[in-house]
Amino acid sequence: MKALLESLRPGDKDSELARAIDPARLPEHIAIIMDGNGRWAGRRFLPRVAGHKAGVAPVRVTAETCARLGVKVLTLFAFSVENWKRPRHEVETLWRLLRYYLKQELPTLQKNDIRLQVIGRVDALPLEVRRELDATIDATFSNRGMVLNLAINYGGRAEIVDAVNSILDMARLDGSIHTLKMDEDLIATSLYTASCPDPDLLIRTSGEMRISNFLLWQIAYAELYVTETLWPDFTRTDLLLAVLEYQKRDRRYGGLSAPRGLPAGVTINEESLQPALRES
Ligand code: IPE
Ligand code: IPE
Ligand code: MG
Repeated sequence: MKALLESLRPGDKDSELARAIDPARLPEHIAIIMDGNGRWAGRRFLPRVAGHKAGVAPVRVTAETCARLGVKVLTLFAFSVENWKRPRHEVETLWRLLRYYLKQELPTLQKNDIRLQVIGRVDALPLEVRRELDATIDATFSNRGMVLNLAINYGGRAEIVDAVNSILDMARLDGSIHTLKMDEDLIATSLYTASCPDPDLLIRTSGEMRISNFLLWQIAYAELYVTETLWPDFTRTDLLLAVLEYQKRDRRYGGLSAPRGLPAGVTINEESLQPALRES
């Protein structure tokens, strides 16, 4: 948070927005469905790939802002298992842009102490893309700030299938297959995101009210935020507004809200209610 405020000019709109954010209630994990590149290009009578090119800069701004804000994990949906249905030229341009991003952004990742990770069926990616990803993952491996998860060739259902298969494989290997019992923890710790907390805030740009097979398991209790802004137009201001909106939400997880006036994190149990019960 301090890092973000120091990087902004006092009195600027973003600086005022950042100041309004409660550092004690930051989302630990933000996940973003970066959508609307094609429509951004279409509105300018440009080919779809021009929208993908214009979508690179907001990735940098978003990653840098989240890191400076103190967010622990940022997961960006870059390519879904379904996106192979697109024309070959578009898919190849996406791979070229990803390689360009990785090369270009390494200094930004290092400067902000960001560790890159990839989630998805990475084995199916072109060799040059995998090489570039591996090189960036290795180069940022000892960074201890925010984790940036790029979801590439990612599908939420595919992830759950992969998790269950890996559990079965392990059980076959260690001979425990006949007594194996599934539970939520076992599945959660076998997902690609095993080491990350679940997303607190899921942002989708371009106004679509759907999840499109993203982090199906992990978003069980994420707060959803959909903006009409198309991804290439997504700015630091949009991100700060999403975080402010998140901080207004009442997260009940199926329980009841804390009575007004209680500081965040204070929970009500029978013991703390005893004095009030005696008075009534
Ligand atoms: C998101 O933008 C980028 C990817 C899915 C790779 P789109 O390409 O889906 O843009 P729209 O939704 O067609 O506008
Ligand atoms: C979701 O966007 C995938 C990514 C942002 C990478 P899509 O554009 O593929 O999703 P749909 O087709 O609108 O559901
Ligand atoms: Mg789309």
